[in-house]
Amino acid sequence: MLKHHDKIEKNSILLLIFVVIMISIGGIIEIAPLFRVETTIERVKGMRPYTPLELIGAKIYKREGCYGCHSQQVRVLRDEVERYGHYSLAAESMYDYPFQWGSKRTGPDLARLGGKYSDDWHVRHLIDPRSVVPESIMPGYKFLVNRDADFENIALDMEVLRKIGVPYSQYMIDNASSDAVVQASNDRDAEFLLKRYGAKVNVRDFDGDPNKVSEMDALVAYLQSLGTFVDFATFDPIDPKKEESLNK
Ligand code: HEC
Repeated sequence: MLKHHDKIEKNSILLLIFVVIMISIGGIIEIAPLFRVETTIERVKGMRPYTPLELIGAKIYKREGCYGCHSQQVRVLRDEVERYGHYSLAAESMYDYPFQWGSKRTGPDLARLGGKYSDDWHVRHLIDPRSVVPESIMPGYKFLVNRDADFENIALDMEVLRKIGVPYSQYMIDNASSDAVVQASNDRDAEFLLKRYGAKVNVRDFDGDPNKVSEMDALVAYLQSLGTFVDFATFDPIDPKKEESLNK
């Protein structure tokens, strides 16, 4: 075959044809699997879209650039699994637009953060990280306490997310701002919120100020939800399809 190679090298049209054929093969190999991308997301129990309050928190997380220092992806490496917990599944970020895997860890990974600390710890840490972790180099976000959470746009955000595949019902969208207020209070009836988003949703005043739903409430609600959706007691990594039968 090498014998004939000089023919290709001397004939630019022939060379071009072979180049196009080679690139097409490479292209098909890269692109074709993407048509079946949904099959790469395992079926798991417990995965749900964010509640309106958590969604406001997720927006603040992105606005403040927390992803610049924190990843949200536990890799399948032993040291990571021992430090943070079960490795991340594709399903766990299926409702994140954009996903928050991140590429830099100045601070620790946050994929399994929910429930690790109390709300009070988070509030104090976000106001002044060095008050709880003396050697911390994380900046403070004190202003979040004084800013009202933005309810006005949350229903619109949910509508956009629904268009790209997040299963928000019309019922959820119509009740978005009242659901957010209910989730951040200690004394309101949360029955419908829990019906819509599941019994495991954290309902309480997160920032210690029951008279106001602040950006701090929203961000802490979001942080406390991270990595808590999938029930790893029932997840079978060898045969994720088993989950499917569990769901039925
Ligand atoms: C300049 C980099 C930087 C930025 C930006 C940053 N962090 Fe951090 N973060 C750190 C570092 C370093 C630590 C470890 C020390 C500590 O706990 O404060 C940390 C720790 C944390 C922890 C504790 C994690 C654990 O498991 O102990 C949380 C929660 C957290 N950050 C949330 C946030 C949030 C939310 C934002 C955005 C509002 C943010 N961080 C922005 C650097 C950063």
